[in-house]
Amino acid sequence: MKKIEQPLPPYLNLDPEAAAAKLSDPIDTARFAKAASFCAKGREDLAKRGYAPNGQKRLRKFSTWEVTKYLIPIAPAHLRRVLKANPDLPQGEGEGGSKWFTLEEILALRNFFAQEGVSTKEYLPYRPEGIPAKVAAVANFKGGVGKTSTAAHLAMSAALDGYKVLVIDLDSQGSMTSIMGGTVPDEWKTVFPLIAKDYAQSLVAENRVRVAQGKPEIPLDETLEEALKTTADDVIQETHWPNIDLIGAQLNLYWAEFQIPVWRQHMRGWALWDALTNFLEDEGILDNYDLVLLDTPPALGYLTINALAAADILMVPLGASFLEFDSTGRFFDMLYTTFASIEEGENAALRKAGLPEMKFEWDVVRALVTRFDASQQTDMANVIQAYFGDFMNAYRQDYTALVGQAGEQVNGIYEADYRDFNRDTYVRGREAFDRTYAEFKELLIGSWWRDLQVMEAEDGEA
Ligand SMILES: Nc1ncnc2c1ncn2[C@@H]1O[C@H](COP(=O)(O)OP(=O)(O)OP(=O)(O)O)[C@@H](O)[C@H]1O
Ligand SMILES: [Mg+2]
Repeated sequence: MKKIEQPLPPYLNLDPEAAAAKLSDPIDTARFAKAASFCAKGREDLAKRGYAPNGQKRLRKFSTWEVTKYLIPIAPAHLRRVLKANPDLPQGEGEGGSKWFTLEEILALRNFFAQEGVSTKEYLPYRPEGIPAKVAAVANFKGGVGKTSTAAHLAMSAALDGYKVLVIDLDSQGSMTSIMGGTVPDEWKTVFPLIAKDYAQSLVAENRVRVAQGKPEIPLDETLEEALKTTADDVIQETHWPNIDLIGAQLNLYWAEFQIPVWRQHMRGWALWDALTNFLEDEGILDNYDLVLLDTPPALGYLTINALAAADILMVPLGASFLEFDSTGRFFDMLYTTFASIEEGENAALRKAGLPEMKFEWDVVRALVTRFDASQQTDMANVIQAYFGDFMNAYRQDYTALVGQAGEQVNGIYEADYRDFNRDTYVRGREAFDRTYAEFKELLIGSWWRDLQVMEAEDGEA
């Protein structure tokens, strides 16, 4: 009988000397510069071949089918009748039965139906008057769990729903910024100057006290002087969505993680975690927008702490796997330690000064299962759900190939053209994010409604 030679696995019998011969010399720091410069050249080359986005993103138009199925829930025939009777309304573009509308046009149509239509139907999304915008942060220190995808889809679905949204990218990787088509030349178009401004303002206030006490002032450097002049308009940019604005991020924003602790060391009284909150509250952001969505980096750094402190609603995405569950548990532990220690420090000082104590409070915190595969992960998800209890969303966001396939120009299901997909695949993929949004919207409007009751009760007492 012939003996069959079994091939060895590829990792056995390797020769160290031959392996060493394949290695380059040890790498020094300068080698990274070389790699970066090669990448830059490659980038140029790819751009010439047409692979790079052309910079200007444009939002596609939406068809009668989409408008009447997803955006303004009326019968297509009714929409056609209303358009015919009101030639001043946007008529859409295209031949035959299906017309195509820009989102601006859809928002105008929706306003029309809200005024003229049946009052039992919801044409405009709920937002009680006199109650500030809600701030929602998407965070988890585990990487790749779907933070940015969740935040981007929530922003887009809220915009389609008619809300005015400000997206703030706090991750120096800038993925959210790319999705929103933002351009960020340097850190002055990020939240960096806003944080610097908050520190500078505290320093100015401190200097007033020092002058009164006859002590020398602490000088403000050039960065801080410049930051004092920065306003919301300087950092907020428009996007290709008519009702989504952006404060973008890029690599330099990472510098904030080094700078913030240095500032804090110079002035122990600076509440570094409140910088973003102060910006949102002091510069009219909470009046000008309905929803502020914060995308955070996979780390519990100072920017994330600012995001968490500013948030009313905290969404914590995780995959239904042991490692992601375990790491999310640790994330909650870190949140506890971090915020409890801030509260302790602050309250010790407040008690000494005879002032009322402070405490952080969120309207709602929810873990959210993302990239869910029901055929493989149902048991795991059930266990996770049992442990999280009401700390977890009921809907598990399904894995959908439509997200991974996002091209350079198109990001996620709401920007994709359904005609590029099998209709069923599209409808199912879209449902994953529509349901994520639906559950989020419940948290949003529930929180607003609760605020309204408090406001009315207070008004009643006054
Ligand atoms: N529901 C989904 N179905 C399929 N793929 C998804 C889904 N949600 C996210 N993804 C994919 O998972 C990957 C990681 O997602 P994402 O970038 O949103 O995570 P992240 O937590 O923001 O990552 P990082 O920690 O690096 O910021 C991406 O390739 C994204 O396309
Ligand atoms: Mg991300």
